[in-house]
Amino acid sequence: MSVSLVILAAGLGSRMNSERPKVLHPLGGAPLLAHAMRAGAALGPERVVVVTGHGAEAVAKAARVEDPDVLIAHQVEQRGTAHAVAQARQGLDGFEGDAVVLYGDTPFVTGDTLERMRDARSKHAVVVLGFEAADPGRYGRLVMQGDQLERIVEFKDATEDERAIRLCNSGVVCADAMTLFQLIDGVGNENASGEYYLTDIVAIARQKGLSVGVVRCDEAETLGINTRAELAAAETAFQARKRAEALDDGVTLIAPETIYFALDTVIGRDAVVGPNVVFGPGVTIESEATIRAYCHLEGCHVSRGATVGPFARLRPGAELAEDVHIGNFVEIKNAILDEGAKVNHLSYIGDADVGEKTNIGAGTITCNYDGVFKHRTTIGKRVFIGSDTMLVAPVTLGDDAMTGSGSVITGDVPAGALALGRAKQENKPGLAIRLMERLRALKAKKKEG
Ligand code: UD1
Ligand code: CA
Repeated sequence: MSVSLVILAAGLGSRMNSERPKVLHPLGGAPLLAHAMRAGAALGPERVVVVTGHGAEAVAKAARVEDPDVLIAHQVEQRGTAHAVAQARQGLDGFEGDAVVLYGDTPFVTGDTLERMRDARSKHAVVVLGFEAADPGRYGRLVMQGDQLERIVEFKDATEDERAIRLCNSGVVCADAMTLFQLIDGVGNENASGEYYLTDIVAIARQKGLSVGVVRCDEAETLGINTRAELAAAETAFQARKRAEALDDGVTLIAPETIYFALDTVIGRDAVVGPNVVFGPGVTIESEATIRAYCHLEGCHVSRGATVGPFARLRPGAELAEDVHIGNFVEIKNAILDEGAKVNHLSYIGDADVGEKTNIGAGTITCNYDGVFKHRTTIGKRVFIGSDTMLVAPVTLGDDAMTGSGSVITGDVPAGALALGRAKQENKPGLAIRLMERLRALKAKKKEG
């Protein structure tokens, strides 16, 4: 049976103390919302509706980055979780199947858990995801009768006895979409918050004689983020999980606790990652590549057998073919380096194409920016760029060309040519010695006077 997602992301998140909508705060380099959307994507949803409110435009934009087909439902006023889900009614018009409600600020729910909820739907009309909380705090409490969930009581509205219940509501719900909206129609707002609680659908379902079940998961999965401290703790948990996954996948991490991953980092088997490496968003590393200590990578691709670092920076659009070598203090941006190319020391290569087996000498810089426009540098195969060459783009160097050290290359270099773009050296015999003598004499005179 098909499934659709309703992801609630309208809240302000006032406890974050931020101008930024809560669901856009990054975790593993990706907005919280993207984590929730990814978890849900494991179900292969037919439609995904994100309910926006605070910062609606920015939230919608981030949602589209994750899924271009996402549907956006705008909740003008935040009148509670049931009211929020009701906004998705139009988006799910004509859809037949289950709806799964997720929260944009709850990033760790796993695809497995969601699958278990869907399986449980064969026994129950409504399935709620619950967890045993170490400290139930302000979570809604699940009031069970045998294997039936009778109702959910919000902390604010709970009696002493109910507050003693440790089985808590994660907020994640799965039900037939049509049934879900019918149940929501029955929800009122006579409660401590004056809000329309999604949790009320449980008691309403029971009154209608519908079966309501609970699927349990680990508390760590339902961790919701409300404060910066919780966001920081979530980052720690996320990194721990990614490190464990990388090790399981056959990646060597020399000092796992010092390596930082993004949500979408992909690293192949037998790749080696040295200490203190940061993977920003959009990085793929193929098998048997080596990333040495203290590198920072984002939006780049490193092919099999390539080595990077130590102390290298790969920025978006850096594309390294097999066996490319990038050494210390080298920055690569929006540049394609073909097989076996080498940039070993102290260089900036931006907006460039570098042909196979080309060697770029220490201190070489592509001068790609004229203050207004960016220009491209095209370097052929087996080119030898002398140390400290300034390549003033746009410029093209043909195959097997060479540049002399210290050259400023402002014009194209034909294939096979040697380009020298520097002042000619002049030697003044004996002048160094005479100059030093004069300066020392001057110093002695000053001391006397
Ligand atoms: C909710 C549950 C509670 C559960 C807890 C788990 C209700 C009434 N309570 O409480 O039982 O233990 O989550 O974390 O559902 N949102 C909207 N529009 C609204 C209101 C909320 O989009 O009008 C979104 C929020 O942005 C948030 C989510 O829904 O992502 C949950 O809302 P929140 O106000 O945080 O609910 P809790 O009080 O935490
Ligand atoms: Ca919450």
